[in-house]
Amino acid sequence: MTAKGNILIVEDEAKMRRILELSLGEDGFTMLSAEDAESGLKLLQNGSVDLVVTDLKLPGMNGLEFLQAVKRFNAALPVVVMTAFGTVETAVEAMKAGASDYVLKPFSLDEMRMVIHKELDVRRLREENRSLREALQQRYQHPNLVARSPKMQKVLATVERVAATNSTVLLGGESGVGKDLIARAIHETSRRASGPFIKINSTAIPENLLESELFGYEKGAFTGATTSKPGKFELADKGTLFLDEIGDVPPATQVKLLRVLQEREFERLGGTRTLKVDVRLIAATNRDLREALEQGTFREDLYYRLNVVPVDIPPLREHKEDIPELVNLFLARSSGESAKEITTVSPEAMRMLMDYYWPGNVRELQNIVERAFALAKGPVLGASDIHFDPPRARPQNAGTSLLPEGMTLEQWEDEMIREAVRRANGNKSQAARMLGLSRNALRYRLSKMGIADEGEGT
Ligand SMILES: Nc1ncnc2c1ncn2[C@@H]1O[C@H](COP(=O)(O)OP(=O)(O)OP(=O)(O)O)[C@@H](O)[C@H]1O
Ligand SMILES: [Mg+2]
Repeated sequence: MTAKGNILIVEDEAKMRRILELSLGEDGFTMLSAEDAESGLKLLQNGSVDLVVTDLKLPGMNGLEFLQAVKRFNAALPVVVMTAFGTVETAVEAMKAGASDYVLKPFSLDEMRMVIHKELDVRRLREENRSLREALQQRYQHPNLVARSPKMQKVLATVERVAATNSTVLLGGESGVGKDLIARAIHETSRRASGPFIKINSTAIPENLLESELFGYEKGAFTGATTSKPGKFELADKGTLFLDEIGDVPPATQVKLLRVLQEREFERLGGTRTLKVDVRLIAATNRDLREALEQGTFREDLYYRLNVVPVDIPPLREHKEDIPELVNLFLARSSGESAKEITTVSPEAMRMLMDYYWPGNVRELQNIVERAFALAKGPVLGASDIHFDPPRARPQNAGTSLLPEGMTLEQWEDEMIREAVRRANGNKSQAARMLGLSRNALRYRLSKMGIADEGEGT
């Protein structure tokens, strides 16, 4: 029979002790017993006890003093006291001193059983309660992460779900959507949080050095290897390894990665010793890996090993509800780092930020808010403080659209209009001429874009 819990009995009467030991033992409890308080305390300190049953009248240290000692040792431990009929006052005193319940002698075994089960249930519920509370607090422990929109909430829910596992995670999403941030959040929410978080970016390292960075090398493995060095996999032992830009890992290295993922073991370059590590892998890519699969530049078997839990982070234009809070976060950060403080954004400025198509996602928003913070003269961030980056050309290999990534025709037009107004230094007649529009048509477009007509002259 599996143990239901450990019970410590402290009772000087041998017969009573024996009866409790036997009957509760038969019920499936693991029994410890002592004939006085002193030896009871020793047993308590040596082992794990879930509940104490003690007589109040004991030789040497009395039951009440024993109870107080138990409570000092562990205030959450339930203590049931036994007391003789006619000494109810002592029972009351014991309850005041922290006893959970009492039974009056003589009692039936059923009565004792009931009290014990009740107390153990209460204890279990309290513990469940505490761990639930802890879990709830953890849910909000990403102070640097804004994720109020349903789409980002979904991402966070997955983060929480995978954090509890050791599964490999594949983070996808355009540049600047927050892949680094989410990778860190997974690590920090996981049981590995106290272990290392090691990041390696395959595009930032020359191809011929990538393997030695990942797996380490032994002295003499190649020219210049004058000492041996551990790789990122070894450094990340008991922690998380974040492999950024996985889509750019060269084929030879892909094979080696596959082996680590399958067997959890590898050798250093030039080494013969097989090393085993306990590492959770998080990989990220801002390219569509399935496209790379079709082109044959990425191994399918590696893809399936990595794609155990896919987490796709949406582009900012798909969760614009988060923009106001992101702006506040970045403003608070900038304010914290400088003598100036800005806590308000004018409605026009906010409208501009909400209407923009954010090809560079949260990173671009952060840059633009930082720039606006630096430019703003008063305590309010205004429309004139906001300057978007000129539209980027779309990479040649990226499909058939004429427009920059993620941009609609209307957004492109808005961008042209802003650029014209900028080049004309705000002179709307001049801007209208550049665009081949009448001044009224330009006014109309500007008002639609939420840019107020300041009514300046022709
Ligand atoms: N949800 C968010 N809340 C707060 N800050 C965010 C959020 N998402 C991204 N950021 C911030 O935006 C910047 C870019 O994020 P990050 O570096 O994680 O993007 P990335 O997806 O890894 O980009 P890349 O593909 O270029 O590596 C960082 O400064 C990050 O702190
Ligand atoms: Mg990144």
